[in-house]
Amino acid sequence: MDQKNRNVVVGVSGGIAAYKACHLIRNFTEAGDNVKVVPTEAALNFVGKATFEALSGNPVSTSVFDAVDEVRHVHIGQNADLVVVAPATADLLARVAAGRADDLLAATILVATCPVVLAPAMHTEMWENPATQANVATLRSRGITVLAPAHGRLTGKDTGAGRLPEPEQIADLARVVSAGESLQQSLADKRVLVTTGGTREAIDPVRFIGNHSSGRQGYALAEIAAHRGARVTIVAAATEKLLPPSGAEVISVRSAREMQSVVCDLAPDMDIIVMAAAVADFRPEEVATTKMKKGHETEGGLRHIQLVENPDILKGLVELREAGDISLATSIVGFAAETGDDQYSALDYARAKIAKKGCDLLMCNEVGDDKVFGKPENEGFLIDALGNVTEIPVGTKHQVAARILDAVEKLTLDTALN
Ligand code: CTP
Repeated sequence: MDQKNRNVVVGVSGGIAAYKACHLIRNFTEAGDNVKVVPTEAALNFVGKATFEALSGNPVSTSVFDAVDEVRHVHIGQNADLVVVAPATADLLARVAAGRADDLLAATILVATCPVVLAPAMHTEMWENPATQANVATLRSRGITVLAPAHGRLTGKDTGAGRLPEPEQIADLARVVSAGESLQQSLADKRVLVTTGGTREAIDPVRFIGNHSSGRQGYALAEIAAHRGARVTIVAAATEKLLPPSGAEVISVRSAREMQSVVCDLAPDMDIIVMAAAVADFRPEEVATTKMKKGHETEGGLRHIQLVENPDILKGLVELREAGDISLATSIVGFAAETGDDQYSALDYARAKIAKKGCDLLMCNEVGDDKVFGKPENEGFLIDALGNVTEIPVGTKHQVAARILDAVEKLTLDTALN
């Protein structure tokens, strides 16, 4: 579906996190979507109708008896391209699971045939209650996407699972679902490790050799995996300031060798390992213990830094798997940022790279000319160990992440069947 000028319904139910819906509405309107806000009566205790009308530019009502001549309780749902409810309270989940149509929001969801995404927010006890979990399972079995709530500070002093993910994260995930990608629980109980960001190799206490990697693609992979039910660990070198995905553990590292040590410790427990990090191939042989000063240059005014090769983490993981230290069932995925040249294409280089590294899949991005680094979109192709190539068309980093994980899940299934 065209990802612009869609009719997006933002449902808001009555929880304190209703204030975050304002940013969500903004996110969609700024992307060019026509937004209709449908709050519950309880939601209006937290945010006023005028705020929702001003932000969306559309009238707001809660009852099926407002503007009866327009048959709103049917038309809003029929015309929607996407319905997102944030926050979705335990009560709203229960009403939707029961097929109720006792207010405009519930009626709209019952009518809608477009993708429906519910972002729960409630206290941990309510989220973990078997009644809520049964409702969530029912909703998911009917094809409705129920996002995993984030862990963190709830209303008052308590913390735990039940926080609403940030509006930007909800919008990114809703766009993935509306583009036809699944956020169903296909990775339930799987352990997924994603490395991301660019390593920094110290020259002296204030300088380092780094690269332009933003870490966005790795974070998007981690986020999609987490919402497909996986337990996710991110090993992050330097990244832009990014929001950690709900429920994922983030371990920060600096250098390639630090990353290797953390990854190798965790690897035996993982079902899927994705090396999305931009790992520096070289590091200074010696790290100066004090700041390098001008005036100590050698020959011709040049200062030389002797570089030595860093360990290849990805290749090392494949070797550990061959040696039996990592399960044969663990899928290992690499990334490659390639440019074609006069002699060889990016695909030629990708083929050579997957053969050299021995991983199961390699996601290849063409870089250069302002492509990929730090951009919201990505594209490229996936190549497997047999040389099969799958195009990954241009899409948000979350959409690309969903397609990469589809391929990994297929591979895992094929391995299990053989
Ligand atoms: N990688 C790694 N350890 C390194 C370098 C790279 O694990 N020391 C991983 C990256 O995380 C990525 C893949 O290997 O998943 C390919 O990275 P790339 O830099 O393209 O590979 P190189 O082996 O460095 O190849 P090149 O000579 O083209 O730079």
